[in-house]
Amino acid sequence: MSLEARLKAELARLPERPFWGPQAPDFTSNDYLGLVHSGIVGELLHRCPPEWRRGSTASRYLGGECAVFAQLESLVETLWAAPGEKALLFPSGLNANLAFWSCVPKPKDTIVFDREVHASIRQGIRLSGARTWGFPHNDFSAAEARIRKAQGEVFLVVESLYSMRGTRPDPEALRSLVRRYGCSLVIDEAHTTLLEPNGESWSARLGLPTLARLFTFGKAVGLMGATWVGPSWLIEYVRRKGFAGIYTTAMPPLIAWAVGEVLRRSQEWELRREALSQLIAFARQRLAQIGLPYEGLEGPIALLPATQEVPHLKKLYPPTVSAPAYRLSLHAHNTLAEVEALLASLRS
Ligand SMILES: Cc1ncc(COP(=O)(O)O)c(C=O)c1O
Repeated sequence: MSLEARLKAELARLPERPFWGPQAPDFTSNDYLGLVHSGIVGELLHRCPPEWRRGSTASRYLGGECAVFAQLESLVETLWAAPGEKALLFPSGLNANLAFWSCVPKPKDTIVFDREVHASIRQGIRLSGARTWGFPHNDFSAAEARIRKAQGEVFLVVESLYSMRGTRPDPEALRSLVRRYGCSLVIDEAHTTLLEPNGESWSARLGLPTLARLFTFGKAVGLMGATWVGPSWLIEYVRRKGFAGIYTTAMPPLIAWAVGEVLRRSQEWELRREALSQLIAFARQRLAQIGLPYEGLEGPIALLPATQEVPHLKKLYPPTVSAPAYRLSLHAHNTLAEVEALLASLRS
């Protein structure tokens, strides 16, 4: 069969996956604090000093390096690193996960991962050549059974808030697994970056014993890029070996500068964090009153059954989710009336 015939036959079976632009009201984007919606990010981009108002032109390793990256890394360290830890920037969270997972675990090691972790982790761990074991979502007894049989260095990887289901892992279960088995806990904090009280790291706030954490700048921060934070020896290793950071164009200095401004002003976003928490609490309460089944809302994300067409909600299909479902995301700029109207349309 020709390539064209093969791919067309497969296309006929694939869900359509349409692109999906901004909606009003916004129940889809990851602009949880409304920093893009409110125009704050746009204004920052306008205010960027002329020397950083440009593209990066190359990889950091080959002409693209500039002082604004090191400045942003030091700022990240003051916010999210413990003594002895460093930060390392990447142009996206996907690059960061591919870079880390492809080079840190070795074929004799074992990676135990929640089956709901992001595709960039799943692809990265495949590239490592390590033994990999996925456990059912948030089932830490299953994770433990696998860790007991694991060989080499054991990596346990979870997210602080799952991007589709809107659930969180049990911090006590994570703490206990690390204490009893000495595994290396790695947490992808993409969907809680800047959302925890005072913009803290989720795992640091809970005192979790992590090897490394990933933060991303394309969600609540409203821009793009990501950073690993971990012990200096590990970060230096990823810097020298992580192909997905080495062989890619650096993030534009314009973006790095604006990310720095958003992070520097983290305290200013506290009212937005509070508004978002109140909206999440309201949505949980109303969903319970109405009796609509849902998953998540342990942060601003929920998964709702896709029983009928609902305006403003994007329907997701496997393999992104296990069965067709709506992903709802809430924002500091959504109003109670918007949420009420949405719930009414889900009920009808
Ligand atoms: C948990 C998680 N990690 C990593 C990424 C990738 O981040 P980025 O969009 O910056 O490539 C995403 C993206 O949605 C994500 O949800």
